[in-house]
Amino acid sequence: MDERLIIFDTTLRDGEQSPGCSLNPLQKRRMAETLAQLGVDVIEAGYPNASEGDFRSVAEIAREVRGPTIAALARCHEADIRAAIDALAGAEKPRVHVFIASSPIHREHKLRLSKSEVVERAVAGVRMARAAVADVEFSAEDATRSEPEFLVELFSAAIEAGATTINVPDTVGFTTPGEYRELIAMLRREVRGVERAVISTHCHDDLGLAVANSLAAVEGGARQVECTLTGIGERAGNAALEEIVMAVRTRRDRYRVATGIRTERLYGAARTLANLIGASIPRNKAIVGDNAFAHESGIHQHGMIADRSTYEIMRPEDVGVPGSLLVLGKHSGRAAVRDRLASFGYRIDDAALDRLMVDYKRIADRKKEVYDADLEALWLGLDPHDGGPWHLESLQVSTAIGGRIHPTVSVVLADESGGHVREAATGDGPVDAIARAIARATGVAFEVRDYAVRSITAGGDAQGQATVRVTSDGREYRGQSISTDVIEASARALLEVANRIAANARARERRYAATGS
Ligand code: KIV
Ligand code: ZN
Repeated sequence: MDERLIIFDTTLRDGEQSPGCSLNPLQKRRMAETLAQLGVDVIEAGYPNASEGDFRSVAEIAREVRGPTIAALARCHEADIRAAIDALAGAEKPRVHVFIASSPIHREHKLRLSKSEVVERAVAGVRMARAAVADVEFSAEDATRSEPEFLVELFSAAIEAGATTINVPDTVGFTTPGEYRELIAMLRREVRGVERAVISTHCHDDLGLAVANSLAAVEGGARQVECTLTGIGERAGNAALEEIVMAVRTRRDRYRVATGIRTERLYGAARTLANLIGASIPRNKAIVGDNAFAHESGIHQHGMIADRSTYEIMRPEDVGVPGSLLVLGKHSGRAAVRDRLASFGYRIDDAALDRLMVDYKRIADRKKEVYDADLEALWLGLDPHDGGPWHLESLQVSTAIGGRIHPTVSVVLADESGGHVREAATGDGPVDAIARAIARATGVAFEVRDYAVRSITAGGDAQGQATVRVTSDGREYRGQSISTDVIEASARALLEVANRIAANARARERRYAATGS
């Protein structure tokens, strides 16, 4: 029997705190449900003492999401641990995750604490958490730049105080596979009471080694991996969940561990996240990128036709990549659409299905054939970004090549109170003009940093995806939208960022009103 490898997902904590990846509470809840359906063992839902909004969001996930353990992060401070315990009150399986930095650099420059003071705080933190919940994880932040013998002392004390998981973070992405494997193996030999705890890995990708390091840790004896979907996270990101899961599955001969992940949902879960944060997945992204299973060169195609195993180590269906099958027609109903979406990992509620069916009928009328990719595009085009006040009512664009006429745009937006706002603008190109008109109509100032359009389905009537990255008030926001009309997709993507900026400003105002900070 293979040993179980615990998949600890921190997309909603370490992932969500990185620039351009922020989610509102409703989006976090949807993501948590997606992760639960994917089969992760632990969802780290957030850091409750960071803000009132974070607290509420962790509390909601703890109350509503069933299946996985729900973890909340806390420094070894009373107020943090209290907030984590309170936020987890409704959880079926709560875990408090306490951490303190262990490296000399952090001890001297950040904490200004001696080794024995760090141990004291860690023990007090673990004890306080353990008095409230049975499942307590202890992390030694910046472990990989810490003295190995100090790690032995610190983890031994944490286990004695009641920690059930000890986590060895490579906080700054500094370690290498061989070094990390040896460190984990050494901790497994030397830490007192280690047989009562699970050793965990948490790797950042600054040198592009996060997945390799995590896998090396598994070889060294780690039985929990902390990771995020598509590797989102601080700086260069965290280890990518889908890569670790498929590596241990594909190379079972080497790792001899099994996860509880429903791998056929990986593709859908990654797209759901990308859609919620408004980013697109790079085509060449391992496992879930569009090109991950595409074979372009003649030699490869020849081999694939002879026998798929010549160039394919995993089957696309194992990770839920939708095929190019003709699946549905004009007369297909809600149940068929819902079933087909579920078959590649998307769960859709009734209200969203109602909205999707309107677009589905429109596309089915216009296109003769509706492929999986079309259906997926419709799903991705659903507006999940609740919280923004504006909707696009109408858009008119006129543009000309040659002469001195600038592209001109007029937009009508509906706001949440049922009112309408109408604005017009000219610009260097139609997209620039749309951005100006939307900024005027909403009163939201932003600067476009990146803009791209790509075709995501095949044929002359293909659907195009527009993605934009903007900055506003020093923060980064992303938006994306899909339509058979790329100008419409661009306008919707730009409106999405205006909505996100406005929703964010509202959340900050509410926080200020509640806490004065
Ligand atoms: O990278 C890190 O050290 C962390 C810890 C809080 C686990 O995210
Ligand atoms: Zn981290």
